[in-house]
Amino acid sequence: MGLLEIKDLKVHYPIRGGFFNKIVDYVYAVDGVDFIIEPGTTYGLVGESGSGKSTIGKSIVGLEKVTSGQIVFEGTDVTAKNARKKMNYNKEVQMIFQDSMSSLNPKKRVIDIIAEPIRNFERLSVQEEKKKVQSLLDTVGMPSDALYKYPHEFSGGQRQRIGVARAVATNPKLIVADEPVSALDLSVQAQVLNFMKRIQEEYNLSYLFISHDLGVVKHMCDNIAIMNKGRFVEIGTREDIYSNPQHIYTKRLLSAIPRIDVDNREAHKAERRAVEQEYQNLHSQYYDDNGRVYDLQTVSPTHQAAVKHVERGGA
Ligand SMILES: Nc1ncnc2c1ncn2[C@@H]1O[C@H](COP(=O)(O)OP(=O)(O)O)[C@@H](O)[C@H]1O
Ligand SMILES: [Mg+2]
Repeated sequence: MGLLEIKDLKVHYPIRGGFFNKIVDYVYAVDGVDFIIEPGTTYGLVGESGSGKSTIGKSIVGLEKVTSGQIVFEGTDVTAKNARKKMNYNKEVQMIFQDSMSSLNPKKRVIDIIAEPIRNFERLSVQEEKKKVQSLLDTVGMPSDALYKYPHEFSGGQRQRIGVARAVATNPKLIVADEPVSALDLSVQAQVLNFMKRIQEEYNLSYLFISHDLGVVKHMCDNIAIMNKGRFVEIGTREDIYSNPQHIYTKRLLSAIPRIDVDNREAHKAERRAVEQEYQNLHSQYYDDNGRVYDLQTVSPTHQAAVKHVERGGA
């Protein structure tokens, strides 16, 4: 049994218009996705901006209303709010956002920001609480004089550390990390990723790690789903995705990873051109006549890709 199982999840946003402000159409932000996150592992969710990643993340933590499908946590269907309440789901599943400046309350001191989720679930004395927050700050490599400061007194990387400390405060089993390092400089990104990994081992956490950049998630993820237009175009192990990509959209994301080796610059350029050509010429292999992503087909026991289904044995 997985820690979290997502079954045929759909989130459609109504578009209203006309004189009576009626529903005229829908945005199919998430349109039928399935995946399983195993305990202690990191699941990557990767796709361009607008592909529906944040909508999945927000649905999981209960910030977005699900149109249909199921969210199952440790075998219990938690799609409905009262089911989540019953099993303390909000303690077990936390979220970290990209923009720590707006997700951390600027008027609160660090001690209150980090203690807030604890206060919802535990009654600690002032001393106990302070001790607990101090040890959380220590875990994320922040000095204890941070306790009485405000978010604006820190750098972006430090604020992301505070966000992580807040997320682990309730000792959750799963953290949804939505583009946690995308706003940070490259050198700071590496630091934050490293301590997220360290904390994962320490707390036996699972992550749903959301990013628009396949380069960033490479060293974090055990399994990866590639998302395009509200659907999964490919899912597999890290090895499947990086070494044996099947869908043109995955190949495009891979060829978009910035390279630092100057020597092979020409080779990479040629590779990018080939991928673009395949995208133009073989579009119908990857998208149907309405531009919709096909259903996933099995590539191997761990690997699926949304390519046009062809009968085996044919030419
Ligand atoms: N509250 C909303 N109302 C209507 N459309 C929305 C809303 N939130 C997101 N969308 C649309 O849903 C799609 C997916 O958005 P999102 O999940 O934020 O993508 P991502 O995180 O991959 O950038 C986009 O087309 C976006 O414009
Ligand atoms: Mg997003």
